[in-house]
Amino acid sequence: MEYQYYHTPVMQKEVLSFLAQIQDIESATIVDCTVGEGGHSELILKQWGGVTLYGFERDKDIFVIAHKRLQPYEKVILINDNFRNLRIHFNNMQNSISAFLYDFGVSSYHFDGTDRGFAFKSNQKLDMRLDSKSHVSAYDAVNSFTEKELTEIFTKYGEERWARRIAKRIIYKRSEQPIETTGQLADIVVQAIPKQYRVKNIHPATRVFQALRIYVNDELSAIGESLKDAITFLKPGGMIIALSFHSLEDRIVKDRFRRWAKGCSCNNDGLQCQCNSDPLVTVLTKKPLQPEESELEINQRSRSAKLRVCRKL
Ligand SMILES: C[S@@+](CC[C@H](N)C(=O)[O-])C[C@H]1O[C@@H](n2cnc3c(N)ncnc32)[C@H](O)[C@@H]1O
Repeated sequence: MEYQYYHTPVMQKEVLSFLAQIQDIESATIVDCTVGEGGHSELILKQWGGVTLYGFERDKDIFVIAHKRLQPYEKVILINDNFRNLRIHFNNMQNSISAFLYDFGVSSYHFDGTDRGFAFKSNQKLDMRLDSKSHVSAYDAVNSFTEKELTEIFTKYGEERWARRIAKRIIYKRSEQPIETTGQLADIVVQAIPKQYRVKNIHPATRVFQALRIYVNDELSAIGESLKDAITFLKPGGMIIALSFHSLEDRIVKDRFRRWAKGCSCNNDGLQCQCNSDPLVTVLTKKPLQPEESELEINQRSRSAKLRVCRKL
């Protein structure tokens, strides 16, 4: 029986239309930094037969699925590693890549096809690790971190206004028995948030689950590190295309593109920056693009997507 993929690639038309503007696209080298089940990668390979595609994926299980899916295509090099390690794999390849594509976060496969506790709706063991390099699981954090640590995680990575109340409730509940499952944690979060402040159509535990996942997998620092290296491997005329799904990811991309456009490539904050050099990129999306209504109708999960693109000068 044919395998049914869980994930529908987001903003496909927009991603392909930006790639089509690259001068040497027919023979380009493209890096898909977040291969997932290989949806975007396959669209690219179908569209341009001459493309050499490098694909990064940190999750071993989904990597195997992508590997199988992309086997029919000749010039594909898949790498089971974190995209924060671009420089290890592209040593000496400065100015040689035509495009980097990022589609941040996790795949529908993680929510619907695994039992690692990404989805709060099903009763799974709390884990949320994308790879074995993450030493701390969501279970460890929820059952052993202090109230202060949990509050910080929920505030920093979930922008959760009830972070402290939720952390307090977790500490209280786990003194009775360990919090083992997604269902238990989701219930605790619901109990901690006052009824009148629950947002319609959004599960009250959404932000806490997002925060734990980002923390456990150290997702945000990987984005900053990867972008910093991607720009050096990108050819003049090449593009970085980034799809974000929450404001924390989007802010990193937006800030990085803005700095490059001003000629800054350092890691200092705006005040200390003394780069004072020529712009490195043109930003092609003054405002981020969002999915069209027609896409939202068929793929609800695309609703928070924001697409930003820059071109290297
Ligand atoms: C939104 S999905 C990508 C979906 C893919 N574009 C498609 O169309 O099928 C994001 C994928 O990136 C992977 N991922 C997340 N952070 C990563 C990182 N730092 N390095 C490599 N892969 C990562 C996740 O495991 C997940 O499979």
